[in-house]
Amino acid sequence: MKKKVFLLTMAAVMGLSMTAYASEGEVANKDKPLVWFNRQPSNSSTGELDMAALSFNDDTYYVGFDANQGAELQGTMVLDYIEANIDTIDRNGDGIIGYVLAIGDIGHNDSIARTRGVRKALGTGVDKDGDINSDPVGTNTDGSATAVQDGTLEINGTTYTVRELASQEMKNSAGATWDAATAGNAIGTWASSFGDQIDVVVSNNDGMGMSMFNAWSKDNQVPTFGYDANNDAVAAIAEGYGGTISQHADVQAYLTLRVLRNALDGVDIDTGIGTADEAGNVLSEDVYVYNEEERSYYALNVAVTADNYQEFTDSTKVYEPVSNQLDESSHPRKSVWLNIYNAADNFLSSTYQPLLQNYDDLLNLDVEYIGGDGQTESNITNRLGNPSQYDAFAINMVKTDNAASYTSLLNQ
Ligand code: BGC
Ligand code: CA
Repeated sequence: MKKKVFLLTMAAVMGLSMTAYASEGEVANKDKPLVWFNRQPSNSSTGELDMAALSFNDDTYYVGFDANQGAELQGTMVLDYIEANIDTIDRNGDGIIGYVLAIGDIGHNDSIARTRGVRKALGTGVDKDGDINSDPVGTNTDGSATAVQDGTLEINGTTYTVRELASQEMKNSAGATWDAATAGNAIGTWASSFGDQIDVVVSNNDGMGMSMFNAWSKDNQVPTFGYDANNDAVAAIAEGYGGTISQHADVQAYLTLRVLRNALDGVDIDTGIGTADEAGNVLSEDVYVYNEEERSYYALNVAVTADNYQEFTDSTKVYEPVSNQLDESSHPRKSVWLNIYNAADNFLSSTYQPLLQNYDDLLNLDVEYIGGDGQTESNITNRLGNPSQYDAFAINMVKTDNAASYTSLLNQ
């Protein structure tokens, strides 16, 4: 009798542990859905995509935005502003429209594209290996730098020179890039030595742009342009901030989690994206493109200026066409590990993450958010100690070259 009970107990224990093992071990970490976002796996000097990382498994994707389309918009936005305000823009009346440029991360595709977009539109770009040179120039008040040239603008029959007076990668001493505080200091330094020459301030993002605006350009009424359409930047347009670009973070945050949801549900990847799901979620072609070869979804950008900023005052609001709750019985809760490369990054922390937090509820995903220090990959990977605990992963690298630091953990 006793023996029988013992055997039954053993069977029950084994049965339980067998099931536990089966449900947890069913999918190997290397086969779980993986999405890269915001920093596209790529070579930080050549920009070449890291296809090994982008096709790590059948359920791997990248979600970002169309960097070239956005960069072109940013450049055009600045140019349009100069043309429309030509009578007042040249503050010292020397016939030179001088601008300074805050560069985010010299090895980040988005940053490179924005630097090129601005130089292209203003005619200050020079060729390097078949593309516009995106190197910072340091200081160039005399126009002698070789990484840029003086541009010329013909407006109402008058010819103006456009000069990139200074540009610099905004990286702090600890190594964090896109650093807003560094940009605030830089404008202080620039303004104190050649402030009267600065007619326009341009930044690769709003975090740095707003820092420069608050430190100097607001008081000096110098138009300042950024990128991201963060709430504070959009609100500042009423106070003289020149404009910004929305990279449709509302669409990107949705796509970031939606591709994981679809892979976890085992449905066609286009579900709720190009093809309406049963809840009615669907995106139209004017807000994103999918490049199958690159396994990448790119949201499209929109310029935000004095003309239309009222429509962009809440950057954390879910995008209406994809705001319908999924039914939990057909889309059961799943757990996702997700990191933000730098918890201090304005765009990611004030716009992107709040959006993700709105969508995770709608998509029945329990997301664990990890905030990195923006400096080392290990600060983040250290917190991915047990990948088996999660059903899927969403990764935002510190450096675009470092995909293997993450995939090696999933391969173990
Ligand atoms: C954003 C920046 C941000 C960077 C971080 C870019 O797409 O525009 O604001 O700092 O991503 O990777
Ligand atoms: Ca001038």
